[in-house]
Amino acid sequence: MQRRNLLKWLSAALSTMCASIIAVPGVRYLFATVQRDTPQAVPPQRVARLNDLPIGEPVEAAITGRRRDAWSIYPEETVGRVWLVRREADESAGSGARVDCYSSVCPHLRCNVSLDPSKQSFICPCHRGRFGLEGERLQTDGQRNPANRGLDALPCQIVEVNGEPWVEVTWQEFEPGISAKVTMS
Ligand code: FES
Repeated sequence: MQRRNLLKWLSAALSTMCASIIAVPGVRYLFATVQRDTPQAVPPQRVARLNDLPIGEPVEAAITGRRRDAWSIYPEETVGRVWLVRREADESAGSGARVDCYSSVCPHLRCNVSLDPSKQSFICPCHRGRFGLEGERLQTDGQRNPANRGLDALPCQIVEVNGEPWVEVTWQEFEPGISAKVTMS
């Protein structure tokens, strides 16, 4: 091989190597970002003792699970928050305790809703979306509610643990900004 050709070949090999050094971490970063944004499945988990929930007064609870970002995996992190509302038992119908559970993620653009100081509704701090204690979308004070649907109810049940009733919730996330309740994939 002539000296000139050898130099050309070496220069091309060196350029390819430099490009790979830059490109490989970039591609890995992009994939990691995609993985980070994918909601992780969280098994049903116990979030509160039934006896700690006052009837008709919402109580907030945390959902823990595995969270991952572009660089790390955190095995035991808060991945979401829920509002639990214990309902009056209907003795005449023979029904026992009932608890409804709502995701605290606002269905408009995913801020976290909080309990209004009056304790009669939930309010979103981002664009003033307001929701009733049954999760319904409210329209109050002539203010437009930007959310297209009410708070997302989550599967929730009462389970016995060592003779004590606990509330168990299955965490799910839903697409924001639309009127239909569609699970995020
Ligand atoms: S994010 Fe809640 S009202 Fe916009």
